[in-house]
Amino acid sequence: MNRFTKLASFKKIILLAGVACSCALVAQSQTTGGKKISTDLFGLFFEDINYAADGGLYAEMVQNRSFEYSPAERREWNPFSYWEYITPGYSYGKISVETNEPVHANNPHYMVLTAEHVGHEESFKGDAGVGIKNPGFEGMVVKAGEKYNLSFFARQLSEKAVTLKISLQKKDGKNIAETNISTASKDWKKYTATLTASETYDTASLIILAATEGQLALDVISLFPQNTFKGRANGLRADLAQLLADMHPAFIRFPGGCLTHGDGLDNMYRWKNTIGPIEQRVEQRNIWGYHQTVGLGYYEYFQFCEDIGAKPLPVLPAAVSCQNSGGTWRVGGTGQKALPMDEMQDYIQEVLDLIEWANGPVTSEWGAKRAAAGHPASFNLEYIGIGNEDKITPEFESRFKMIYEAVKAKHPEITVIGTAGPFHSGEDWEKGWQFAHQLQVPVVDEHYYTDPKWFISNQYRYDKYNRDSSEVYLGEYASWGNKLRNAIAEAVYMTSLERNGDVVRMASYAPLFAKDKFTQWTTDMIFFNNTTASLTPNYYVQQLFSANRGDLYFSNVIKKDAKDSSLAASCVQDSKTSDIILKLVNYDSAVAKTMKVDLSRFKKMQPAAEKTVLTGDANAQNTLQEKNNITPVTSAYNISKTFNYTAPPMSLTVIRIKMK
Ligand code: AHR
Repeated sequence: MNRFTKLASFKKIILLAGVACSCALVAQSQTTGGKKISTDLFGLFFEDINYAADGGLYAEMVQNRSFEYSPAERREWNPFSYWEYITPGYSYGKISVETNEPVHANNPHYMVLTAEHVGHEESFKGDAGVGIKNPGFEGMVVKAGEKYNLSFFARQLSEKAVTLKISLQKKDGKNIAETNISTASKDWKKYTATLTASETYDTASLIILAATEGQLALDVISLFPQNTFKGRANGLRADLAQLLADMHPAFIRFPGGCLTHGDGLDNMYRWKNTIGPIEQRVEQRNIWGYHQTVGLGYYEYFQFCEDIGAKPLPVLPAAVSCQNSGGTWRVGGTGQKALPMDEMQDYIQEVLDLIEWANGPVTSEWGAKRAAAGHPASFNLEYIGIGNEDKITPEFESRFKMIYEAVKAKHPEITVIGTAGPFHSGEDWEKGWQFAHQLQVPVVDEHYYTDPKWFISNQYRYDKYNRDSSEVYLGEYASWGNKLRNAIAEAVYMTSLERNGDVVRMASYAPLFAKDKFTQWTTDMIFFNNTTASLTPNYYVQQLFSANRGDLYFSNVIKKDAKDSSLAASCVQDSKTSDIILKLVNYDSAVAKTMKVDLSRFKKMQPAAEKTVLTGDANAQNTLQEKNNITPVTSAYNISKTFNYTAPPMSLTVIRIKMK
């Protein structure tokens, strides 16, 4: 039931039952004493920007595993990119890229390797052969004693079988893991092996050498650590995924961002292209200027959400492409393109099929595909986003309406999230909200990236929002920067999201990941390279709010100087644990400031509480080189019914209180 249907039925109850019924409702809320707020308030936004997926969270170690890189993605790229042709031991032969009878029609390119002569010179000490070498994403990280799952498809083209020597190799040519496989079929066949690393090494390459003369076709050459997050096949990098799990997000939005609506109609993210065996997925250009294998596809996103107890929030295109399509980002280009009306019925079906795929019984067409992939149980999809900060044009409106009405009619249990442009105000924001009101869209997605000062001076934004209308999903926001001052400005704002948690249903900071040397969006939450990650102060603020969510909000518990906008505070209770959680924020970079806490409304509190403080120099930030400048510090803290708390300059404090 959304806010509009809830409101209608509430009004009906009041009319039918008169005063007695409304008194009962008031009495119930007095028992709890707090205002109900969203249980889904803080979650994550994931987009494959800054090499967040391929080369990032997705644990695949081989780059361009299916020979699908192309100059359309980057002028200097082609199907051979990241594959070096090698002929050690005075061997010779050739490689070519072919498209005739591929492994699957969705995966058109493959490599043909011909070993004409494998050298046998006695003076040569290493492995001789004709082959290829892949450095992964700037080197493959392997750990001594750990196992790596190798798989590839091969088709033997010569009469005789070809023996392949496969190894992980250091820069000096030393093998630190190896295995041999001989071709055994003239049709495409999948081969698998396990490589065990004898040494820890950060920049290994995968070598595949034909060690006997002959010819074969190769495709989808893949290498994964066995140690992925929760050991999932085709899984996620364990360390990065754990950082997300540690945030305890209520939901994860995916796959974007602008990646969702895409750079032109043929670049939209179509969910059906991203499920099934990896060799059958449709790889494509990434709007952010690189390649998407979609190995991290819908199944993997849903599985990850389940693995960390977050609700999945897929966002699908509203059948229009990004308004910045076809040109330099935000400059010129072809603009928003809309799917032709005669394709809309199929497109709407695609959206409905996603709901069946996620939640339908195994006996349904799409539920059966989910079960075949290994997940017979429902994924319990509750939310679906339609559109991503699209330009609100007549083309968008007509298509959004068709999709929205079809979902509402067939799946009233699903909450649809609409969209209100890329800024906190302006034409698209106004038109987007007006349109959402007209259609009574239950939740509307707002996006804004702006100055930290904006967050301070707009901390009362949502206090003014209409409670009888659509709720808000603040789907993308960040203040410009990763210094402590940025994070604390966001913390001020997040207390206001809690205060307004009756109208703000969800919020997610964006973007999430940025890979060192591949960062396209300067302000991000987690910076990482192949071996490590640096957590920004913004990460810690998000984590402290997310891991300390409540479902009841109490006003007037923390008193501060009303005129001082650098101070902000909130008090929530988590009714599952009964814990009371106080958040106290001081955005002043120089002066510690005192707030008065009055907990007398709560009975039976334990005096021994826990306090976590994030503070430091306003301009400090964590980098990959110097990770730990700013980290939260937790300590024991004794509370009483009333007390004064002096918040250090530029700080967020979370006090968690247990009940007896
Ligand atoms: O988060 C980065 C980008 O910002 C998103 O892709 C887009 O939706 C927004 O403009």
